[in-house]
Amino acid sequence: MQGKNLMRNCARDIVPFIPELEDLPIEEIKKRLNLPRVAKLSFNEAPQGPSPLAIKAMQEAALLPNFYPDAQAKELRRGLSKLYGLDLDYFAVSNGADEMIVLLTQAFLNEGEEVIIPFPTFGQYFVSTRLMGATAIKVDLTDFKIDLKKVKKAITNKTKMIILCNPNNPTGTIIDKKELQCFIENLPAHIVLVVDEAYAEYVESPNFQSVISLVTKFPNVISIRTFSKIYGLAACRVGYAVASPQLIEAINQVRPPFNLNIFAQAGAVASLKDQEYIRRLKEYNSTAKKVLYDYLDKLKIPYIPSETNFVFIDTLKDGREVFQYLAQKGILVRMSHGWGYPNFIRLTVGCPEDMDLFYKNFQLLY
Ligand SMILES: Cc1ncc(COP(=O)(O)O)c(C=O)c1O
Repeated sequence: MQGKNLMRNCARDIVPFIPELEDLPIEEIKKRLNLPRVAKLSFNEAPQGPSPLAIKAMQEAALLPNFYPDAQAKELRRGLSKLYGLDLDYFAVSNGADEMIVLLTQAFLNEGEEVIIPFPTFGQYFVSTRLMGATAIKVDLTDFKIDLKKVKKAITNKTKMIILCNPNNPTGTIIDKKELQCFIENLPAHIVLVVDEAYAEYVESPNFQSVISLVTKFPNVISIRTFSKIYGLAACRVGYAVASPQLIEAINQVRPPFNLNIFAQAGAVASLKDQEYIRRLKEYNSTAKKVLYDYLDKLKIPYIPSETNFVFIDTLKDGREVFQYLAQKGILVRMSHGWGYPNFIRLTVGCPEDMDLFYKNFQLLY
């Protein structure tokens, strides 16, 4: 085990991401299940794909692969600046939101400092925290929602960062905007508040507020965003942070200069221009979710109403059995044992064909 001995202490016990069936690319899942079609409803991807403008822009970008991309991703940051009405220096880009989480921990965490993370939530926060030798402090949700009173109680003199996923993955719930605003107003300035808003574009509730509207007032608050969800560019790996220019500068100090390749930049720039396409996808998601709720209500299957493109469902059975049964039928969902909810599955709202396949088969279990 020479390799392990050579590793940094903090990295030694980190479990690598070993893809299970539901984590594989669709073509590989089809091969393994020996099925001509599968419904991949395990990753919260956009089944419709990106705007046609994005595909065209990436095809054009493919003609110039021999030159390095723009290290500052200026065109993309200009597009974001226009969308949000903030100056260019409020934006930093990353190779997916995943990389932004790593960059934030690299920029701000010292060994021994604490990061408060409401749980269950997106797993990468824990990995990145541990890699920096910092300690993750888990705070339980209350009724499937992030509980800011509990978060506040968990603050100690070692707390350096708080990571809130809003809306939260896997529960799909949001933090009430007044509570969040009040929490931020009372947060000590030396604590970095990271709010992962990967699913913000799907939210319909008037009780939600993105922290992007607060970054000019609170220099210690960061929003993480991604093009992997509603923008349909998961394979291209485009994420970004919105924060005060001071925090953005810190992120850029640790960011590899060419972390966003030429296709990713071209696709993201073009898809930002097609906000009508995004509006239609949001509308589809909303309607499809209502159909899903009606279906589950009829079966008397409990679920958590969601502000995202996925729903956390209590199957009233061992989720592993439900997973295996659905997988045989070509439907991949996310099991929830690791989140401490063995009876739950997380289901992505897919395209009509995928949802029909799910509806036809899921009810046979009851
Ligand atoms: C809450 C949350 N944050 C970040 C990510 C990672 O996004 P990206 O594909 O941009 O790395 C995901 C992906 O599922 C997510 O659910």
